[in-house]
Amino acid sequence: MDITQLRSSPSCERNQEPIRQVLEQEMPAQAKVLEIGSGTGQHAVYFTRAMPGLDWHCTDRGPDLDDLQLRLDHCADKPLPKAQVLDVTQAQWPDLQFDAAYSANTAHIMSWSMVCAMLQRLPERLKPDGLFFLYGPFSYDGAHTAESNQAFDQRLRAENPAMGIRDALELERQASISGLHLMRDIEMPANNRILIFKRESL
Ligand SMILES: C[S@@+](CC[C@H](N)C(=O)[O-])C[C@H]1O[C@@H](n2cnc3c(N)ncnc32)[C@H](O)[C@@H]1O
Repeated sequence: MDITQLRSSPSCERNQEPIRQVLEQEMPAQAKVLEIGSGTGQHAVYFTRAMPGLDWHCTDRGPDLDDLQLRLDHCADKPLPKAQVLDVTQAQWPDLQFDAAYSANTAHIMSWSMVCAMLQRLPERLKPDGLFFLYGPFSYDGAHTAESNQAFDQRLRAENPAMGIRDALELERQASISGLHLMRDIEMPANNRILIFKRESL
């Protein structure tokens, strides 16, 4: 396999190291992690190389799952669980309990109803006190944090009105309805953020 042929995301190349630094601080070193919308699988490979105690479960919607699996097979330092199909709107999620969940650059690609489905269903799959790391660009009370984010938001909405940068305060409200409490909001390079939610103990 010529791994240069694998689909690759330049933004993952840029953001993986700053995200890793946050995960090393905030995620338990030994954790079963559900990734939603793994895309190319670059983050899974990079983070598990740096944090070998992570049991990282990649998922994504169907179409590009074979490419994702190829990257895991050829690039991961250790065998990772087989990538699973997961569309956040589907009724059945992987029948496992996770210490943490992670999703990068997905909330602005999903429609708002998909984002709500993700926030509603995820707590059932998280252990009590489990964490959810959501990386991406977010606005605050309708205001973008940078002109580049505003331009990106306009491009997304022009391409598909269902897409668009999500508001962190709306996400916080929606998450709290299903028992996910916003614990941290961390500034990241290039006007991105990591929102860390914690599943409230019952
Ligand atoms: C911009 S890509 C980000 C991929 C990767 N996480 C990254 O950071 O490069 C958005 C991802 O969200 C996934 N996605 C979109 N809608 C989804 C849904 N309803 N359920 C699960 N994943 C979804 C897409 O398949 C895609 O992999």
